[in-house]
Amino acid sequence: MSDYILALDLGTTGNRAILFDKAGQITGQAYKELTQYYPHPGWLEHDPNEIWQDTLHCIQQVIKNTGISAQQIAALGLTVQRETCLLWDKMTGKPLHRAIVWQDRRTAPLCHQLAELGHAEEIQSRTGLVLDAYFSATKLAWLMDGLNQTHPEIERNRILAGTIDTWILWNLTGRKVHATDHSNASRTLLMNLIQQEWDNRLLELFGIPGEWLPQIQPSLSEFGITDSQLFGAEIPITAVFGDQQAALFAHGCDRPGTVKCTYGTGSFLIAQTGKTAVRSQNQMLTTIAWTRRHNGQIEANYALEGAMFTTGACIQWLRDGLGLIDSAPETETLAQQVPDTAGVCFVPAFSGLGAPHWDMTARGAFLGLTGGVRREHLVRATLEAIAYQVKEVVDAINQDSPTPINLLKVDGGACRNNFLMQFQADVLGIPVERPTIQEATAQGAAFGAGLTAGFWSDYQELVTSRECDRTFHPGTGAASAQAHFQQWQKAVERVKYWR
Ligand code: G3P
Repeated sequence: MSDYILALDLGTTGNRAILFDKAGQITGQAYKELTQYYPHPGWLEHDPNEIWQDTLHCIQQVIKNTGISAQQIAALGLTVQRETCLLWDKMTGKPLHRAIVWQDRRTAPLCHQLAELGHAEEIQSRTGLVLDAYFSATKLAWLMDGLNQTHPEIERNRILAGTIDTWILWNLTGRKVHATDHSNASRTLLMNLIQQEWDNRLLELFGIPGEWLPQIQPSLSEFGITDSQLFGAEIPITAVFGDQQAALFAHGCDRPGTVKCTYGTGSFLIAQTGKTAVRSQNQMLTTIAWTRRHNGQIEANYALEGAMFTTGACIQWLRDGLGLIDSAPETETLAQQVPDTAGVCFVPAFSGLGAPHWDMTARGAFLGLTGGVRREHLVRATLEAIAYQVKEVVDAINQDSPTPINLLKVDGGACRNNFLMQFQADVLGIPVERPTIQEATAQGAAFGAGLTAGFWSDYQELVTSRECDRTFHPGTGAASAQAHFQQWQKAVERVKYWR
């Protein structure tokens, strides 16, 4: 009897397995924090073996904790941090280097070089993305270049490339399936957005051999079955998504104009544009929301996205980097203890600036410091900066679209912060809706897997059954929040073109 759907949510700071029951409720979960390697300023790597071992551990743990058996799992949905990529040896199964994480800026010089050679426009038109070190293509090119030093002997036909979904899928299926889905592939800078295939011109430009790349499949489709040796039962893998697109799916944002923002390591605001790939005039990304098979054809839903690289990560930095707070929830109380930031603006450009600025050289700063500034002000300025970044993206998407955004659906760790959510509603001037289950990325993967496997049959029923925890309406702080936003925008200009 199959009673559950297993979702794997493999994120930047940790890996999680969650079991959902037929009612769409969480039955159990297991989580493991992931080691972050910073070999140089601006670089960030993950150990692919650790991701795989932790994935296994979390699955085994959740099965054990809930007392179920793997036979009771109808299907598995996989959702991952996007753009992070690696090369591995298919004979030994060993990674050839640590994975280069999406936040890593090491390939900024290569991007600048390609831009100077006049390739930026063509890349944008083929992929819907901007030429930035954020995406996988230049990271794969860097890894490939390094092979001559690290693995001079390796035969090129032993090498496989992939994002984290591909690596985990390959391992889960006993090294049989080398595939990805369109939502992840659309973030590599190598997929043609309209043809939805690897783009030969781009493979040539970045020097990536096409045979190293995985096969691209619809997000909601059958990807294979887990190796029976792993969990004592074969579990069908029936959905793969980039984590931000999975959250969009969970929120029921399937019609043009519906929008969600996930507050994780970074924040990612995505607006559904339906079957049309809308091109932004304001530096937003055009991306695949998800794909599925319909009447023998692959049907794609597109989206506009604003990627803000550092949001939840700066709260973590207040805790681990500065020791200013003991825990993330403490920021809510501290920020509420002061009426404003005492003139302080924080720009969290730790990994450069993403949408709408796209400046790989920008770095973070506190501006406007005086002797009267206390830690409460710094904490408040940090939270406000998260909300201001989202405001910039909402404004840009509103300029791109005929229908203004009138509601923001939110999820992710930092959306638990009531101060942040109220401030977000104030600065945007629209309601912000927080669901009861805030693990929307995992929930989207579960919904996708369960629908494909026939465990559930009605998407609308599933998404409307999700409960709302709280809606934040613009309040008395709206006018001052919006006024201070302009000051903050000036601060952003100060940190640009730093390195
Ligand atoms: O594009 C990067 C994004 O997918 C990372 O998400 O939740 O791991 O910060 P998260």
